[in-house]
Amino acid sequence: MLRKLMRKKTEDVHLLNDRIEAVRKRQIPNHVAIIMDGNGRWAKQRKMPRIAGHHEGMKTVRQITNFANELGVKALTLYAFSTENWKRPKIEIDFLMNLPGEFLNTYLPELMEKGIKVEMIGNMDALPAHTRKAIIKAIETTKDNQGLILNFAMNYGSRLELVHVMKELAKEVSEGTLEINSINENLIDSKLMTAHLPEPDLLIRTSGEVRLSNFMLWQLAYAEFIFTNVLWPDFNEECFMQAIEDFQNRDRRFGSLEGDQKG
Ligand code: FPP
Repeated sequence: MLRKLMRKKTEDVHLLNDRIEAVRKRQIPNHVAIIMDGNGRWAKQRKMPRIAGHHEGMKTVRQITNFANELGVKALTLYAFSTENWKRPKIEIDFLMNLPGEFLNTYLPELMEKGIKVEMIGNMDALPAHTRKAIIKAIETTKDNQGLILNFAMNYGSRLELVHVMKELAKEVSEGTLEINSINENLIDSKLMTAHLPEPDLLIRTSGEVRLSNFMLWQLAYAEFIFTNVLWPDFNEECFMQAIEDFQNRDRRFGSLEGDQKG
């Protein structure tokens, strides 16, 4: 029985490796954005407090970050805390604000070893000092790394981001430093917090919810969307690879009639 089980496990590993090989030969999305949803339900199913789900979700962050880096994804943006999440109970907010510190303090050596670069989008000023400190330390320490960009969306809201861009443009126009006719998509792209990142090709949302929740509304204009019922703490390498395979089988036309070449 044991030998049979072990043989099955070895076969599974071979199968997974074959799939990884096949995925690598085709187009890997440059930028994957994930709405990590379902931590609370994961905990509830186990009669645990919601924060236990967030803690488990943090472990998934590590697993998926490493796997995305191995596959050659250039940027991974994770929606960790939205501008609307301040409406949650204080105990949950406090816990969520401790997670970046715990994650980054624990995994910083691993991020360095793997060449992963930490970045953040969102309003950092409104975060508690200890959260800000942990994020700034990670950004500073990893700034020369050349691997995956692990971009946390913390205290991020897309509409607010767009309001800032609009105000900045209006100011430049009113001061006479910008012509109205010079406002175009590229200029707006260049003012967003994601200006230096490739455009997201793939959005994944876990837990069966099918909405964007104020996440990168401008940036996701041409992204492929994948919604899965899997709760974030249960989302693993296999799920991520399935999402990449689904992406690779989509026919991306960007409004034209011909599909692009995915190899
Ligand atoms: C949504 O699930 C999840 C969040 C608001 C927080 C996501 C944060 C993590 C996964 C951990 C982040 C880790 C680091 C290192 C910053 P939910 O609570 O809305 O779940 P529910 O819909 O089932 O209630």
